[in-house]
Amino acid sequence: MTPHPYSPDSNRYDEMKYRRCGKSGILLPEISLGLWHNFGKATPLEKSTEMLHYAFDHGITHFDLANNYGPPYGSAEETFGQVIKNSLHTYRDELFVSTKAGYDMWAGPYGNWGSRKYLMASLDQSLKRMNLDYVDLFYTHRYDPNTPLEETLQALVDIVKRGKALYVGISRWPYEAAQFGYDYLRQRDVPCLIYQGRYHIFDREPETTGVLQQAKDNGSGFIVFSPLAQGLLTDRYLNGIPEDSRIAHGGHLKKESLTETTLKRIKALNDIATRRGQSLAEMAIAWILKDDMVTSVIVGASSTNQLSKNLNALNSPAFTKEELEEIEAVCKQMV
Ligand SMILES: NC(=O)c1ccc[n+]([C@@H]2O[C@H](COP(=O)([O-])OP(=O)(O)OC[C@H]3O[C@@H](n4cnc5c(N)ncnc54)[C@H](OP(=O)(O)O)[C@@H]3O)[C@@H](O)[C@H]2O)c1
Repeated sequence: MTPHPYSPDSNRYDEMKYRRCGKSGILLPEISLGLWHNFGKATPLEKSTEMLHYAFDHGITHFDLANNYGPPYGSAEETFGQVIKNSLHTYRDELFVSTKAGYDMWAGPYGNWGSRKYLMASLDQSLKRMNLDYVDLFYTHRYDPNTPLEETLQALVDIVKRGKALYVGISRWPYEAAQFGYDYLRQRDVPCLIYQGRYHIFDREPETTGVLQQAKDNGSGFIVFSPLAQGLLTDRYLNGIPEDSRIAHGGHLKKESLTETTLKRIKALNDIATRRGQSLAEMAIAWILKDDMVTSVIVGASSTNQLSKNLNALNSPAFTKEELEEIEAVCKQMV
């Protein structure tokens, strides 16, 4: 492919809002873009390029990846690497790129979980795929109950000391392990920049387990994944299961998630969003961003059109007390 002629919008920083990530020097956009689905081999490079350019043109500076994003594994990083090579490399210092390792990636005992062997090798592979010399942020993607936490955390420290990542983060670690991680990293002068966790209107786990408050108490940021419950908290499934949807593709969002109760809740939430003059997706993102302990929300999008709608959440009206109570009631009544 010939290099994509690209010149970013000169007004790209006008609309986006940026929040400080914990007690660090880093500002992250309120809306970041994740490449878990929709940027693998099945998506034409032209389409991925268009979405990434659109994001950057609108002030999205943070792109969230992992070694196994695709499908197939590695292909989202390859796509991103192609776009870096073809156009975005010029703007490398305006980008904040993260990747992760922790889930199964390659065969055998060294391609999964939290060993030093796996994390080090995986990051080297990710850098090659993405055509980058370093990532801005490297995460341990999940808690590994069988590897000593010291081993995983020391690998993160050494990754920073070797210049392969500027910052490190943890994703989906339970409260106690996370506290061990915050302390270990701080004592070695590589403070944990950010915690990545799932949080949305239907899933309040970061509130109930305390990991949201804990990140703040430890001077770390908190970044939210799957803010739209993988598409359930949108208008996508109001009238059935569209052929091109994540449920129809048969990936991580199962048909069984769309129970009758969930659909009723989605419809009730959609009515509240309509009254507020916005889409359900916009309301769901705004609902998360109302909490200033959240640094950024990583949205997924299967089209530029979806991404553009999600960006409207930045101009969302504030929630009234009554609206928040109504959202709570919808979630509670129909469980
Ligand atoms: N740390 C972790 O373990 C972890 C786990 C999961 C995700 N993540 C990160 O979080 C990112 C986001 O996760 P996610 O993709 O599950 O996020 P999500 O934003 O909850 O779901 C994205 C899906 O919602 C639908 N959608 C998005 N905007 C829409 C709109 N305006 N209208 C209608 N439908 C819309 C699309 O579904 P269709 O495809 O059906 O169009 C899209 O693929 C990932 O890319 C990844 O970077 C991290």
